[in-house]
Amino acid sequence: MYEFTEGSVTIDVPEYEIQTSRNEVFYNPVMEFNRNVSILLTRCLPPERDILCGMAGTGVRALRYVREAGHHVDANDINPLAARLISSNAEKNDINITAMNKDLNLIDGKYDVVDVDPFGSPVRYVHPIMRLFKKEGYLFVTATDTAALCGSFKNACVRKYGALPLKTAYCHEVGLRILLGYVARCAASWNYGVTPIMSFYKDHYMRVHVYIRRGKRRADESMRHLGYINHCFSCSHRSHSHTPECTCACGNTFNHANPVWTGKLCSETMLDEMLQEVQQAHVGDKEAMIRFITLLRDEVSIPYHWDSHEMASILRLPAAPLETILSKIRDAGHACSRTHFSPTSFKTDATLADLASIFTD
Ligand SMILES: C[S@@+](CC[C@H](N)C(=O)[O-])C[C@H]1O[C@@H](n2cnc3c(N)ncnc32)[C@H](O)[C@@H]1O
Ligand SMILES: [Zn+2]
Repeated sequence: MYEFTEGSVTIDVPEYEIQTSRNEVFYNPVMEFNRNVSILLTRCLPPERDILCGMAGTGVRALRYVREAGHHVDANDINPLAARLISSNAEKNDINITAMNKDLNLIDGKYDVVDVDPFGSPVRYVHPIMRLFKKEGYLFVTATDTAALCGSFKNACVRKYGALPLKTAYCHEVGLRILLGYVARCAASWNYGVTPIMSFYKDHYMRVHVYIRRGKRRADESMRHLGYINHCFSCSHRSHSHTPECTCACGNTFNHANPVWTGKLCSETMLDEMLQEVQQAHVGDKEAMIRFITLLRDEVSIPYHWDSHEMASILRLPAAPLETILSKIRDAGHACSRTHFSPTSFKTDATLADLASIFTD
């Protein structure tokens, strides 16, 4: 066995040559940031929530939910070796947890928080998972099938998510919004509305945390956040709308991503609470976590962004520091921010025509 320490727990992991889904039991140290975020977030919920860690692997995430956030956790994995390892890792850390060995889609019970962390796509689990919620709850979902969500495998995205992706410079944002839209549609069919509390893209995966509340009106309200992104591959203009726009001002026909979540990706209140909680939490590099959460909190809520090099090439501008670009856009009266999707990109409510007049007039 290998031994890893993460957060406040030390776990055993069967030896492996390289990290793949074919390992006896899967533990990916690269996903520590993903786990840190969810643990920090659950520290901001009322204590002693009932959490289902539906695909728990070694149990590292589940054990940390108990020790670092004070919740009750059922840790499940379909792999019997994983279920045994969860129990022995719990014993090793003297943590009280219920280990289960079931198909996630066959679990009964009611939970306040359900965490779905599969290999690849979560689509087979999101719809049936809705049965596990009470009147309200929190759903956490990881997706690593970014090639589908971001448009490299368009047919896979249509097949799995029932959504058209868009292979553009901002395809990771479109992918995240397709995933959120999928979660919102599954929830709505069970009469739940969703509010994203923290959703992000990092290191080739997407992670969404949403608050779910029962109610037909709430479900209808969520559906109003679904819409189209209209993209012109001739002049690079982009916009969003409830119904598709057909023709760009340049005369070209728009391509679309649809349906995508066009609303907020995060709750500022939750992000502020997480920022207050960071110092007390086991989140590895605290400064990196603070920078990441602050970046998310300050993002302008527009469902796409601009890469500064892309804009420079479209408008035939010399390269300029991102801070200079942001200041010029703000000075012209537009909202503008950096974005967590890319260190060279920005979000703004300025259109391509606005950007052209700001930078070329
Ligand atoms: C990416 S790993 C989970 C990693 C873990 N959550 C962590 O943070 O370390 C995915 C896990 O899902 C399990 N799994 C796959 N299909 C499942 C199913 N239908 N029900 C429950 N677990 C499943 C696999 O055995 C694997 O351990
Ligand atoms: Zn155009």
